[in-house]
Amino acid sequence: MNERRPVEDWATDFDHLSDEWANHSPDILADLRQRCPVAHTERFFGAYLVTRYDDIDELSHNTAAFSSRITAVNENHPDNIKIELPPITLDPPEHSPIRRALLPAFNPREVAAIEPWVAEMVTRLLDDIEGRELVDGALDFAQLVPVELMGKMFGVSAAMGPQFRTWVDEFLKDGQVDIEIARKASREVQAYFADQLDQRREQPADDLVTMVLNAEAVEDGSSRPFSQRERIGALFVLMLGGIDTTWSLLGSALFHLATHPADRELLVNQPELIGNAIEELLRFYSPVTIGRYINEDAVVGGCPVKAGERILLSFPSANRDETHFDNPDEVDLQRAQNRHLGFGIGVHRCLGSNLARMEMKVALEGWLARFPRFELAVDPAEIRWTVGPVRGPRMVPLRILA
Ligand code: HEM
Repeated sequence: MNERRPVEDWATDFDHLSDEWANHSPDILADLRQRCPVAHTERFFGAYLVTRYDDIDELSHNTAAFSSRITAVNENHPDNIKIELPPITLDPPEHSPIRRALLPAFNPREVAAIEPWVAEMVTRLLDDIEGRELVDGALDFAQLVPVELMGKMFGVSAAMGPQFRTWVDEFLKDGQVDIEIARKASREVQAYFADQLDQRREQPADDLVTMVLNAEAVEDGSSRPFSQRERIGALFVLMLGGIDTTWSLLGSALFHLATHPADRELLVNQPELIGNAIEELLRFYSPVTIGRYINEDAVVGGCPVKAGERILLSFPSANRDETHFDNPDEVDLQRAQNRHLGFGIGVHRCLGSNLARMEMKVALEGWLARFPRFELAVDPAEIRWTVGPVRGPRMVPLRILA
């Protein structure tokens, strides 16, 4: 448990790092959307929380007032946050040269090329589960898929998997509440990627570390190599972005299908719906909530917001906004209109969305073909959800049915 001062009113004293938030944020957000669409808290040296779709859309495009220089909203004072994770912590005009250099590695052609490897990996993970009646869908499957894939794409030893899981947890979860944990993880990750870059200097390979080593930022028509800090920061953000998000969404998907037999049967009987279903799961179980630093006084949704404080963009809340989605609190795997913000919007829109969609598709198709019948082995209310910028179920105990 994470011991914190109880929240008095979510509109004026929100605490997005509390266990109550982690476990009940959809209800809290539904209330705020109606009652106070731009909430505030004195915690975290002052911060706002934006919950409506249109406000988040507008704010995401106003990079002059709302800077990505600081995306974490936690107990660490903004002046003490020095971490550089390009491109996610860059604003225009510095943002685009770095993003453009990384994009080709995640285009549809590259993603299609690695799909057969992902399918084999998923088959191997399912082989390991086969024959067991009780399985943890999060620990035994959802967490392993992106960890193995990112390890493969970085070109590092598969034995690094558990260490990657630990670093991601320390940085994005425990480290949000205890800054020293995040600092320790950050130092270790940076040293690790510095060493990997040295190794690729000696022996280049066809992998992301070599790609980042040789990456060039194109600015004003001329190009320059990435600095070493940019290289390490880019590898770090790819690790964070590539791992925790997808495992959270895959865990949520298994949780959903285990608790909604009609949806599970629909996908088993009509596997062609998988693409549509993934978009709906992205909408409903959106894992990412991220912050901005307020550069200048501004107005959001009619509310004045002060320079020097931070502001959280709740993509999960935007995705349940009743002015944009019919029956937003229902999962409809065949939903036709679905312009969800699960991957964000604006210049920072997810760089790995093609990869994430492919992973989700291969993993869910594989799982449903192997285990078409399964159910949650505990009461749904017992599932605990993670604290931090990426929300997903900590465990998904499943019973595989014959
Ligand atoms: C279900 C899986 C995923 C979800 C829900 C997700 C969500 C997001 C969101 C909401 C943003 C926008 C952040 C902002 O506005 O500040 C983002 C950005 C980003 N994501 Fe993802 N992501 C996923 C998977 C991935 C994968 C697989 C990778 C790469 C391996 C990745 C890499 C990135 C990077 C590098 C950025 C920053 C882009 C920029 O600043 O230009 N993500 N993601």
